[in-house]
Amino acid sequence: QSIYLKDYTPPAWLVDTVDLHVAIHDTHAEVRATLACRRNPAGPGGALVLDGEELALQELAIDGAALAPFCYALADDRLAIASANGAPLPERLTLATRVRIAPDANTQLSGLYRSKDGYFTQCEAQGFRRITFYPDRPDVMARFTCTIEAARERFPQLLSNGNLVATGDATDGRHWARWEDPYAKPCYLFALVAAKLDVLEDRFATRSGRTVRLAVYVEPGKLDQCGHAMAALKKSMAWDERRFGLEMDLDHYMIVAVGDFNMGAMENKGLNIFNTKYVLARPDTATDADFQGIDRVVAHEYFHNWTGNRVTCRDWFQLSLKEGLTVFRDQEFGADVHSRAVTRIQEVRALRVAQFPEDAGPMAHPIRPASYAEINNFYTATVYQKGAEVVRMIHTLIGEAAFRRGMDLYFARHDGQAVTCEDFVAAMQDASGVDLAQFRRWYARAGTPHLKAEGRYDAQARRYTLTLTQSLAPTAYEKRLQEAGLAIDDGPLHIPVALGLVLPDGSDALPEKTRVLPLTQQSQTFVFDGIPAAPVASLLRGFSAPVHLDFAQGDEELAHLMAWDSDPVNRWEAGQRLATRILLAGIAAGGEGTDWIPDTFVAAVARVLDDGLRHDAALAAEALILPAEQVLAEEMAGAGKAIDPEAIHRARIALRRHLAARLRDRFEAAWAALAPTEPYSPDGPQVGRRALRNLVLGYLAESDAEYLNASVMPRLTAQCSGAGNMTDVIAALGTLANLDAPERTAALDAFHSRWQGEALVVDKWLQVQATSRLPGTAARVRELMRHAAFDIRNPNKVYALVRAFCAANPRHFHAADGEGYRLAADVITELQAMNPQVAARIARSFDRWRQVDAARQAHARAALERIRDCAGLARDVAEVVGKALEG
Ligand code: ARG
Ligand code: ZN
Repeated sequence: QSIYLKDYTPPAWLVDTVDLHVAIHDTHAEVRATLACRRNPAGPGGALVLDGEELALQELAIDGAALAPFCYALADDRLAIASANGAPLPERLTLATRVRIAPDANTQLSGLYRSKDGYFTQCEAQGFRRITFYPDRPDVMARFTCTIEAARERFPQLLSNGNLVATGDATDGRHWARWEDPYAKPCYLFALVAAKLDVLEDRFATRSGRTVRLAVYVEPGKLDQCGHAMAALKKSMAWDERRFGLEMDLDHYMIVAVGDFNMGAMENKGLNIFNTKYVLARPDTATDADFQGIDRVVAHEYFHNWTGNRVTCRDWFQLSLKEGLTVFRDQEFGADVHSRAVTRIQEVRALRVAQFPEDAGPMAHPIRPASYAEINNFYTATVYQKGAEVVRMIHTLIGEAAFRRGMDLYFARHDGQAVTCEDFVAAMQDASGVDLAQFRRWYARAGTPHLKAEGRYDAQARRYTLTLTQSLAPTAYEKRLQEAGLAIDDGPLHIPVALGLVLPDGSDALPEKTRVLPLTQQSQTFVFDGIPAAPVASLLRGFSAPVHLDFAQGDEELAHLMAWDSDPVNRWEAGQRLATRILLAGIAAGGEGTDWIPDTFVAAVARVLDDGLRHDAALAAEALILPAEQVLAEEMAGAGKAIDPEAIHRARIALRRHLAARLRDRFEAAWAALAPTEPYSPDGPQVGRRALRNLVLGYLAESDAEYLNASVMPRLTAQCSGAGNMTDVIAALGTLANLDAPERTAALDAFHSRWQGEALVVDKWLQVQATSRLPGTAARVRELMRHAAFDIRNPNKVYALVRAFCAANPRHFHAADGEGYRLAADVITELQAMNPQVAARIARSFDRWRQVDAARQAHARAALERIRDCAGLARDVAEVVGKALEG
């Protein structure tokens, strides 16, 4: 049931215009659609085929004449029209349909659905076919008009894409509004909203003089939580003009927040629909990370207006064309408006926690997959984050100026078109003159390449020689392709390796500091002359390629880089490598004792802390976060060992405790020095100071029981109840949630009673409990699933409780008794019938099941088989579980 990129054929029919009428009634909605269709001269010919899912067809007519049943076939979610009442289909025709749909029963949240008191849409990737019959593929681009009709009292706001062209009253207290989108678009960018909402309005003047009306719509009573999103939107608009010369092309730009939403947000033309999580924020309800998440997602969806909407994807295999590029753009926005170094470090961490494991597991795929069963399963870390890394590598290889020319050329060539990743690379190549033929392999290969480095210094000749060797073993994906008889291009990749040579005095030996080595062969040697002393090589500065680095550097060398590397990302990276090495030794010791912790590491941590107090607190905070349990697990798996989640957890805690004991005075001094001195603001240097101070408090909470109770506990409880901002509150509550103390329960209860009316804050309450270290966490999660605060139909609740447990609490998810796996299977089997997309995302927690020990594997297999055998299993979940079991 997989579909293949190689089978792509252009559409047989095109649609020039769509006129929609959507009438919302108490029991159903009625959708009338008028499509101006035309046979595609470049198409394969044949019937007019439309997609349609869960639509009750009421009327079907061509050019005004109702179609007799013998002219069409309606089966398997397809409507195939072969003739117009016996006559062959004309070259151009007007197709009129009338269908009934049931938005109130739409628990998948794809298509038109109800959330609380309003109606909202989500059409990407294939939701439009759940609204009306349509050739639901991104290479069919049409101009849309949409009239919405509903009861005025309950649904005062009627919104769709583009410009509001008419409004009016209908009978029985109903009203209507008609919207016209001047730009042709694929149907996945269609949106409509009918709801009672409050609106925050503003204006943005584009540099060519257009005044855009900006509007953020939210549930009534939440206007005081929209200011940050609006500010982020204006910042994004100004940034895209400045950095890419791209302007807003409509008179209206609307963002609507909805509490039930499968993903983060959606870039519908002129009418973005957002998960409330990425709109609503107030200092007392949202953390610094939430505020930054809003910045990034608002920017991301706005940037899609050009990279995604004006130029869209030919087919869904090309998803990374718009997603990888748009993530790259929102990353650069983050780097420009916040801190470049901190932003990059966070991206690298996220890539290691989520994308590297994906690349090593059963769902491995290239950023442009050659096949899939369910496209919704491919909105992945690979397509998004690795896709952005691939765009970033192009940027590194050709440079900022050529990259900008490449973007200009891409738009000059393809504005208004649905294109492929190949078209993007071609524009970059043509604008830069850099040959990217070999680079294209990054689009087709799954898996994370290994880069082996060997350096040698010849003091006599003042010469440093570096040999780089790349390798990439076939993944589950390549094996599947091979079985399907498809060729794999397994030649070497074109890898930009940014290198610095750090001298004993800490300076850079290379005049340009960093040189980008173009590794194109399997193995290549690079020679550097005139190097005055033995350097310490700093490889992959700025994380210039998404690879595993295999480079034997001693603790001394890593400590030298930690102290001196002129690239902040590699200073951080050196610390992570050192910590990883120590933790792996600790894991080998079963996480017992502390004799695997060298004093040099303790000293390095102290130095980083001092540095943070003097210079950049945010960077220090990043450096003091030990490698995540998931990253350590990948290290074990990569070394061919069974992942031992218990030992990983114990070793990491042991190291934290050791640091807390040895550096208590330093931590205390830092805690005092970092006390807030000005009123809360979600940006600027105080974000870094808060991050470091809360991190330090977390370390102090690892102290012995006596000190903990006497000195740390009072601060934790005070911060929980007294801090005016959610960043500090949740940091303290998250720490308390790991402590088996009466204060824990009191703090959790108080938090819940204070915030039970704020859905997003309740999500935090669920999440801190789901990620707790304490024994009995799985049982607590089950209890919370029965709590009034939980609702399995709300994706945010499922993510906050269940996904947090499965993905962010590895030690409890992989519990030796199999309880974590059983819990996940229970949720997935219940949820898959309701919301297959969300269920499939939870099912991805099993990706690494073959890397744990045999006893755990047996439990995981039983859980997976139970899901697989579920009657009527949704395609989304079937693909994930099938691939996991296939191995
Ligand atoms: N295009 C959206 C974004 O990245 C994601 C929407 C995906 N939705 C889905 N159901 N697969 O901004
Ligand atoms: Zn996107």
